[in-house]
Amino acid sequence: MDFLTWARSPWGQDILAHISWDLFWAALFAGVAFFVAHASYMVLSAHRKRHATETDALEAARPDLPPRIKRHSLPARLFHWVMAAAMFVLLFTAFLPIAGIRFPWVRWHWLAGVVLVTSIAFHIVHSIVWLDFWSIWVGPKDLPELKAEILREMGREVPGPKPGKYPLGNRLYHLAIVVTALAVMMTGLFMMVRVRTPFFERNPYLLADSTWGFTYVVHGMAGVSLVGLVIAHVYFAVRPEKWWITKSMVLGWITRRQYLEHHDPQRWPM
Ligand code: HEM
Repeated sequence: MDFLTWARSPWGQDILAHISWDLFWAALFAGVAFFVAHASYMVLSAHRKRHATETDALEAARPDLPPRIKRHSLPARLFHWVMAAAMFVLLFTAFLPIAGIRFPWVRWHWLAGVVLVTSIAFHIVHSIVWLDFWSIWVGPKDLPELKAEILREMGREVPGPKPGKYPLGNRLYHLAIVVTALAVMMTGLFMMVRVRTPFFERNPYLLADSTWGFTYVVHGMAGVSLVGLVIAHVYFAVRPEKWWITKSMVLGWITRRQYLEHHDPQRWPM
């Protein structure tokens, strides 16, 4: 399997052109293999939410909590669904032609790219100014939580920390998406200079051929990574034990019991 494709410059040098499209099929295969492997593993996995008796006690001790706990504000939910729609249009417009379905994809692709970039610019400002910015990030401070989660996964009852607002897996996923989405957006914005748009004069000579090649390769690498990441995200969203999280991205709230079952009220106080 090839990873890269090369072109020849007018001076006879080999320069990078694109990623090899084999990588797209590899990412598709990896995404599907992941969900088959995970779904099989989940048949054996132990339950990870708080015990019913422990949750009953917590519920009795917190009569002050409302029956519905707000998890996502309306602007946060709108951002999520606009970004998701843009992401799907980007993935399909990029990869359908590679799969043999030909249509004038470039215009739809960059238009969806502009929607993605705008929605993410909004999300960055929104999360810095109005949301609890640090609640989604992971770092060495999360090692005790990781250890507790692994032990619970193995069926052990451990008192260790429960997640705050976001489970550890969601925070790791967010980090992966931040890295790949920033790479695809920054390179995509440059690549818009090479195609006809109403924003600026087309200029394929803005960068040297080898720099363009590198830009297309980074864009393609980040793009195929997003194939795997999006498959994993949708797979988790539709798993029955995660419906309460998916529902909260539609309705904005979770129940008081779900809050106490899955979270550490001290790390996500109400
Ligand atoms: C899910 C995110 C994205 C994926 C999977 C994706 C994928 C791709 C792929 C596979 C290509 C073909 C690259 C090549 O020929 O080497 C491409 C081209 C392109 N993409 Fe994206 N992309 C994404 C996001 C974006 C964004 C955010 C923008 C703009 C802001 C953008 C703008 C472009 C442009 C202008 C081209 C070049 C078309 C051409 O030169 O003919 N893309 N994209």
